[in-house]
Amino acid sequence: MQNEEKYKFGLIGCGRVSENHLSALTSGNIPSELVAVCDLDPEKAKSKGEKYHIPWYTDFHKMMEEHPEIQIVNVAVPTGYHAPVVIDLAQYGKHIVTEKPMALKVSDCDAMIAACKKNNCRLFVIKQNRFNPAVVAARKALEEGRFGKMVMGTVRVRWRRYQKYYEQDNWHGTWLLDGGVMSQQASHHLDLLQWFMGPIKQMFCKTATRLLNIEVEDTALATFEFESGALGAFEATVATRPEDLEGSLSLLGEKGSVIIGGHAVNKILYWKFDEERPEDEQIKTQFSQDVPNVYGRGHTPFLADVIEAIRLGRPALMEAEEGRKDIAILTALYESAACGGKWVVPGCPIEKSRLGKG
Ligand SMILES: NC(=O)c1ccc[n+]([C@@H]2O[C@H](COP(=O)([O-])OP(=O)(O)OC[C@H]3O[C@@H](n4cnc5c(N)ncnc54)[C@H](O)[C@@H]3O)[C@@H](O)[C@H]2O)c1
Repeated sequence: MQNEEKYKFGLIGCGRVSENHLSALTSGNIPSELVAVCDLDPEKAKSKGEKYHIPWYTDFHKMMEEHPEIQIVNVAVPTGYHAPVVIDLAQYGKHIVTEKPMALKVSDCDAMIAACKKNNCRLFVIKQNRFNPAVVAARKALEEGRFGKMVMGTVRVRWRRYQKYYEQDNWHGTWLLDGGVMSQQASHHLDLLQWFMGPIKQMFCKTATRLLNIEVEDTALATFEFESGALGAFEATVATRPEDLEGSLSLLGEKGSVIIGGHAVNKILYWKFDEERPEDEQIKTQFSQDVPNVYGRGHTPFLADVIEAIRLGRPALMEAEEGRKDIAILTALYESAACGGKWVVPGCPIEKSRLGKG
């Protein structure tokens, strides 16, 4: 690590998730150097600037102009602002890492990709759960064909959010800037479902707002038919009481099954294949991890992958095109829900969904 070139980072958005970025970038575990931070709110920018002993800004243009040495910029602003901020930021020609979900509309994802292409910078979308050791192990088993023909994939998000979570700012729980549990919390799990199960042929969805006073859904159920013929089940709610229960992924195949649970898809609960291997015995203990909260510990390996992809000129696991996939799925799910649960296909013309609209 000592002789490795350190990549210089800036961060835009010093809110709740920013600490996952800042602690990863300053951990010493990846070749990164934090140069400057920015937030529209001077208190937040100042507090992070002072904590990490770096300059802080309230205008990202000023940060970029005064720090041309920045090579990669992380964007952690409210979801509805990902597209305008990334498109504006691309003019500086620096690589960009944006938080999930990539945007609220597929057309915004396309505009973000086009702006970065035009300015010769790469765009990555954070899906840190793909880097959880338990998920990495299951993906390896899939790639090695250990599951055989896939039968069914299920993701569940049973988390707790109270009204005060939605009242602490003016964007959570709005159609314009956030979306509901499907967009905000479960976009990770939708991504995992499609990553493991492959392209979706069709899907239908029902949503409900059961306990929270918000304009979007707090609860959702969806069924998928994958192009392979396998089926998928999706269940997400932030109305779980009295505490977080799980963020999980189950994979059922003709030759074996895996269940990854915990609060953040972080613990292997079940792992059994017809053809056993010696390493299976230790898999639960070796590849499960404890997490401090539902964000998990994946930002560090995610950013390590970004840095290595840039250094070696190879693709990263979460390039923008990959981040766009769950936005196409999300908008189709919202379309289905808005139509009372009709079957829809990804990429269908979106007319009914209010996602990304006021
Ligand atoms: N990967 C994860 O597990 C994870 C977890 C939480 C949040 N997120 C995502 O991260 C993003 C931010 O979420 P959060 O909970 O930190 O939100 P937040 O509201 O706590 O913080 C967002 C910050 O961005 C600032 N901001 C807005 N526009 C700006 C601009 N133009 N320039 C500079 N600063 C600006 C706001 O002032 C605010 O402080 C969202 O897209 C969210 O979905 C991801």
